[in-house]
Amino acid sequence: MSRTSAITTDQTKVCTLPTGLDKGRLPSHIAVIMDGNGRWAKSRGLPRALGHRAGVEALKTTLRLCSDWGIKALTVYAFSTENWSRPEDEVNFLMALFERVLQNELESLQNEKVRINFLGDLDSLPRRLQQLIEEARNLTAMNKGISFNVCTNYGGRRELVLAAQKLAKRSLNGDLDPDMIDENIFASELFTASLVDPDLLIRTSGERRISNFLLWQLAYAEIHVTDVLWPDFDEQALSKALFDYQSRCRRFGGLDPMSSEHHHL
Ligand code: FPP
Repeated sequence: MSRTSAITTDQTKVCTLPTGLDKGRLPSHIAVIMDGNGRWAKSRGLPRALGHRAGVEALKTTLRLCSDWGIKALTVYAFSTENWSRPEDEVNFLMALFERVLQNELESLQNEKVRINFLGDLDSLPRRLQQLIEEARNLTAMNKGISFNVCTNYGGRRELVLAAQKLAKRSLNGDLDPDMIDENIFASELFTASLVDPDLLIRTSGERRISNFLLWQLAYAEIHVTDVLWPDFDEQALSKALFDYQSRCRRFGGLDPMSSEHHHL
């Protein structure tokens, strides 16, 4: 088997959690904005397409590490609703790449018990890609391993508008009393309905933006920004993000239970 055809470079090797990380305080769900493929290619005098190919390898490595380290869900931003404005050649290349990757990797994803899903407005993707997505989703739906979500033609605002439309329709049909709409009912109409919210958002290549990604779901996520370009994202970069995450004190709007803030009102 060639090194790049499988989801892992070496299927038999399980990567152990880096020393010093607390197994009990890992994020359940990691979201990633995989940025910098183009810059990675440019800095090497290569075409952008090769940056995206290298990005796929970084993604395989990241998925394998997350799976081995016991992360329950990984959600990545592969193509945004705004990415259609890129040159036609690049858009076509990316769509063809998604098809090829899905086709080539499905068997190893299945062997590794990965549950794969695609989140976004999938109707406007090429038909062949839609078919492959449907196939991959059905084949892996019952898998008990990591849940791997690829956001494709995804936009956070679009997702919220679609959820509002679905709720409005249910109300008009008489299925739903508008006064009953709460955060849980709203969240159940999002693409991420069956997932817990991400605990950690990683953004590569130094940009400090959310870029219309998981606007609702990231409400309380810790954000880790790294200058590493996505194709260079590796075990060391992931482990750094996890150490950063474990150094944070998550309060969800409340007070730190361990601090003395309570006594100074
Ligand atoms: C950002 O780099 C990356 C993308 C737009 C696409 C990333 C896609 C993959 C890694 C493939 C995933 C595929 C599947 C099917 C799982 P950029 O082009 O924005 O880089 P730049 O900001 O340096 O130009």
